[in-house]
Amino acid sequence: MQELTDTFGRVHRDLRISVTDRCNFRCTYCMPAEGMDWLPRDEVLSFEEIERIASLLVDRYGFDSIRLTGGEPTVRAHLPQLVAKLARLDVDLALTTNGATLALVAPALADAGLDRINVSLDTLHPARFVEMTRRDSLAAVIDGVRAAKAAGLDPVKVNVVAMAGVNEDELIDFAAFGRAEGVEVRFIEFMPLDADQAWKRSSVLTQADIVERISERFPLVAERRGHAPADRFAYVDGGGAPGSSHIGVIASVTEPFCGSCDRVRLTADGKLRSCLFAMTETDLRGLIRAGADDEALAAAIEGCVHGKWAGHRIDQVNFIRPSRSMSQLGG
Ligand code: GTP
Ligand code: 5AD
Ligand code: SF4
Repeated sequence: MQELTDTFGRVHRDLRISVTDRCNFRCTYCMPAEGMDWLPRDEVLSFEEIERIASLLVDRYGFDSIRLTGGEPTVRAHLPQLVAKLARLDVDLALTTNGATLALVAPALADAGLDRINVSLDTLHPARFVEMTRRDSLAAVIDGVRAAKAAGLDPVKVNVVAMAGVNEDELIDFAAFGRAEGVEVRFIEFMPLDADQAWKRSSVLTQADIVERISERFPLVAERRGHAPADRFAYVDGGGAPGSSHIGVIASVTEPFCGSCDRVRLTADGKLRSCLFAMTETDLRGLIRAGADDEALAAAIEGCVHGKWAGHRIDQVNFIRPSRSMSQLGG
């Protein structure tokens, strides 16, 4: 098996696929309240085109994990059909969702072969939820988390973007929520990818703060870091309901994980990006629609990964934001 390696020797085996740029929420840290321009339908990759790229990465380079993202992936029509196609590949198949319609779609996704799911949820207060997402869906998301567990998706993780002065008073509540519901809660350092460009270094709640504050109530021990962006911490008392033995922290700002990065991402319009913060993209859709064969596609993919940089510099003065916002990049 060939390895998809960059100039720093990092081997790539993880694909994130954005299946749509659309979303039914307007989270303040991601999208503007109004005025997003959606991609026209014909610019979005078809399920067959996605399947072709995913199969090539799996068959030729041994990719072993695929995650579907958005925008909000569940707003893409007939999503379970895509899940069923990708489930035929020998990969760990996951999805990241805002959970708004999860109570309805979780069984179909699980039946189609989805292995596991991450649900974004940044507050447990209804009024604050409306402020943060500009939608009144807290109860629906919590139902969605429960439906995902009930459908057998395993593990179910909850992603909390932790922001100073916004939801920092809820760290313990979220830990308790995870322990009660049997889910792994992951706290994410706020990254400068918000469409409103309101990000400030001072609005980042750091991994150190998060772990210290939760440990005061529920003591934690750190575990060794792998390829995944999240650092995991085990509850000393073992946690609560099954599935809640750990929390995670995704410390993109204070503890970047670029050195062990093994992922590439495919945007909804078929551009391959070697990094969330990359300044360039490789147009696989154009190649496919021009009739390129697998050799030509593979050459383009290798070229993209060859150009991958050592990592982002969020915490440094010379950091440059990518021109697309989070919802367009797929998280
Ligand atoms: P697991 O495999 O379950 O650990 O998922 P994940 O953490 O890789 O994916 P998820 O979609 O749940 O993303 C959680 C957070 O990690 C989000 O805020 C993402 O933006 C961020 N994230 C995901 N991939 C990358 C990456 O390659 N670089 C950086 N800096 N952040 C990332
Ligand atoms: N910083 C950190 N995480 C973000 N997400 C969206 N925008 C940001 C940001 N600016 C998270 C969502 C979701 C995941 C895909 O990305 O909450 O969990
Ligand atoms: Fe990988 Fe780029 Fe994310 Fe760093 S910022 S972990 S290099 S995708």
